[in-house]
Formats: sequence, C-alpha cells, structure tokens
Amino acid sequence: MSHNPDEIRRIGHLVVDLIADHLSTLADEPVFRPVPADLADRLVATPAPIDGATPDEILREFRETVEPYPFGNGHPRFWGWVNSPPAVMGVFADALAAAMNPSCAGGNHAAIYLEREVIHWFQEMLGFPASSMGLLVSGGSMATLTALGVARHVKSGIDVRAAGLRGAPRPFRFYQSPEGHSCARKAIELLGFGSDAVRIVPTDEYRMDPIALDRAIAEDVDAGMRPIAVVATAGTVNTGAIDPIAAIADVCARHNVWLHVDAAYGGPAILTDEYHTALAEVARADSVALDPHKWMFVPVEAGFVLVRDGDAMRSAYSLVPPYIRSLGSSNAVMGLPWFSEYGFQQTRGFRALKVWMTIKQFGLAGHGRAVAENIALARYLAERVRESRDLELLASGLSVVCFRYVTSGTSQTADASDSLNRRLLEQLQLGGETFLTSTEIGGRFVLRACIVNYHSTRNDVDRMLDAVHHVGSQLATHQADQSSTARP
Ligand SMILES: Cc1ncc(COP(=O)(O)O)c(C=O)c1O
Repeated sequence: MSHNPDEIRRIGHLVVDLIADHLSTLADEPVFRPVPADLADRLVATPAPIDGATPDEILREFRETVEPYPFGNGHPRFWGWVNSPPAVMGVFADALAAAMNPSCAGGNHAAIYLEREVIHWFQEMLGFPASSMGLLVSGGSMATLTALGVARHVKSGIDVRAAGLRGAPRPFRFYQSPEGHSCARKAIELLGFGSDAVRIVPTDEYRMDPIALDRAIAEDVDAGMRPIAVVATAGTVNTGAIDPIAAIADVCARHNVWLHVDAAYGGPAILTDEYHTALAEVARADSVALDPHKWMFVPVEAGFVLVRDGDAMRSAYSLVPPYIRSLGSSNAVMGLPWFSEYGFQQTRGFRALKVWMTIKQFGLAGHGRAVAENIALARYLAERVRESRDLELLASGLSVVCFRYVTSGTSQTADASDSLNRRLLEQLQLGGETFLTSTEIGGRFVLRACIVNYHSTRNDVDRMLDAVHHVGSQLATHQADQSSTARP
C-alpha cells in the first residue's frame, strides 16, 4: 500500500466531490429517510472482506449504501436533539488530523500545542484562570464524567484513588434538577456512588431553585451525609433553561460543595450580547462541560471539559507507566505535562485540529452571530406557535421550542393528546419534510425543536409548521371519526 502522491490526489478528489455533493444537496433531499430493511440486514450481516478492494470500489459502495441515509443532521429543517451541521473546515480537519495521525496523549509535537491553544481560547471565553486545565473529549457525557471524577477526588474526604469508596464514613450526595441531563446520573453511577446519591432539587420555570438547593444540602449535612457536587445546567436539553448560576455558586461556596456547570449545549451563547452576562457566571464553577460539536458546529466527536484547579485534575488522573515516563528523554521530546495525566484516555485523537479550524473559520464573533440568529429563529417559531389556534407552546429557551398540536374547539383527554402528538411526531419524521424530536413537560409528551443550524431560515420554520398543521389536522380528523364510531 504505497503512498503514491498522484494516487492520493486522485482518491482525494473523489472524496472531495462526495463531500461537496453531500453537503450541497442535503437541503434538496428528504430530511430523513430510513435505511431500507434489506440494506440494513445486509450491512449488519456482511462478513469482513478477505480480499481488499480498490478505493474506487469502496467509494462507490459508500455512495450507494451509506451517503444516502444520514439521520438528517445538517439539513436546514432538522431540529432533533442537539445536532448541528458540520463546519466545512471541521470536515477537512478530520482528514488532515488523520493524515498526521498523532496520539495526543502528550509529547513535543504540534498537535499538543494546538490543543493547548484551544484550551486557552476556552479558558478566556469562560473566564477561567490560566491555572485551570481542560481536555478535549468525546462529548458532554465524557466531559461530565471527567469533571465529576475530579470532584470525587477532591471532595470525598478519603483517598479514593487508593481505597475506592470502601470505608467511606458517610454516604455521599450529588444535586441536580429534574431538567439536568441524564449523563450526570450515569457518571455518578459509574463513579461508584450509585444513583441513590443523587438528590433531585426542584425547579422554578425549569431552573434549579437555589433556595431549595441550600435547604437540601443543609438537611443532608444534618443527616450525616457528605455533599460532593451540584450539577447545574446552562442550557437544559429539554427547554434551554439556564439555572441561576450565581445564586447556585453562592450556595456551593457556603457549603464547600463542588459546582459543575453543564454548558454542553448552551455554553456558546456566552458569545452573544444577550446572554453574555448570565453565562459569565459560569466562571464561578469548579468545572464546566461545553460541547464544540453542538452549537459550535465542529463535526462530532468534540466535547470539552474545563477544571478550575488544574493540579487537582492531574492528581485525580495521573498514573504514568514506566514506558511513558521521560527517563532519559529530554523535555524537547516529552514536552509539557501529558494530557493523559489529566483524564482517563491514554491514546487520544487530534480533535483539537477540527475545533481550531472551525473556530478560526467562524471567529468568535461569527460563532456569536450564528448562535444569536438561531435564538432569534427559535423566537420566531415560538411566536408563530403562540399565534396558532391548534398549537400550544409549552416552553422555550435559548434555541429550544417545546409545543404540541391541540384539537381546537373540541375537548380531548391528556392521553389522547399525547397519543396524537406521538403519532404526529413519527409521521413528521418519516415524512421527510422536517425532523423534530420530543420530550416530556409536566408529564406530557411534547414536540421539541432545537435550532442549532446556521442554514435554517424563517422559510424552513414556516415549512415545518405547515407540515405540523397538515399532519396534525389529518390525525385529529381520524381521531374524531374513531371516537364518534366508538360511541354507542
Ligand atoms: C445539556 C446537555 N448535557 C449533556 C449532553 C450529553 O452530551 P453528549 O451527547 O455529547 O455526550 C447533552 C446532549 O445533548 C446536553 O444537551
């Protein structure tokens, strides 16, 4: 397998054509089309090839069987979960990073300094000191696990690295609102505390209530428990709500509890004039998660964790085996303290390149504008929902809008409304015109749009609403027919 430059260029041009075609035609295709069942069966059952194929054959197969079936992210009317389109420079950065193929565990090579540069950018963006330390990780879940691992190390009051949680004199506690992301609970379980250690703090308008938090911590301390950390959220996945970070930070300081802020989704709103002040309070956290692969348009996977006390982060994770120790090697070879001492991963990819190139392509001002435009578009959507007789707005914040179809003029049980909206969502997703996802608000099923897409326009919002009205009214008529025939 030689590295013939002409052949590499030839294959590269084929790949670039595929990328250009994919990205430029996405908007003309159905937002989502399911993988045909026979293809899905074939894909999962095909054995590994014994003989190699040519790049042309491999790319043909990609064009026919892979490229036509994305989940829809990148399409201007895809507003499911928190999935954004990829910035073009981020796409190419992935190929360049793979061409260099460094391990970013550490060492004196350019990829390491690029990650340090990106960390520095985020330190400045979030108001963290130079003594803090960050890492690029796979996403918000890994960022949360990494941060809470440091919280465990610092706040458990025992030598958790040597003894684990065995022999802990008191039960531990973590605090989260019901709107907090499930990854925090998963991390707490994985860190050995058990989900019983999580105390759910009530909310006010989807935001954690700091007075209730204060009371909960005081009660737990009185009951002999040891609080470890509060997980607050700056941009909840359900409704885009931002917890009152300053008031929560005061509570944490009073009780000497770690404050982790999950800004995985909402963090980039700090770059907008409107949200800058509210999100500047994130600077008071002990750790923060922010996902470049969400609202900063870096291709997945790119998460980021930042820990105020960089030394504590190193002390929580550093375990340097002899084959990595710089015995006999100078700093000119080994460079700065290794990233692998600050997290769980040893071999690490060159994620920094796509983050670096994407931020360079947009500039922080460009990122701020894109986020602000998404927020404005979400407000337009919320306004149109409010004006509509057969739609009900349940919640909206940042670029999330939660709403549902209601049958105007006729009474409907809550269960019937949930069932109609469930069917509506599925038909919308399969219909190819738009892609929303769902959540629960107050126990009710709602449609949820999260606009993290710089291609989306008001026209796309109008088209999505037309589809909702169209499918919703068909389903409502069908439901009414069924209930009238069911009546004696
Ligand atoms: C607020 C929030 N936190 C954490 C996560 C988890 O991030 P990831 O899926 O990148 O692990 C998400 C994902 O949507 C999120 O919205």
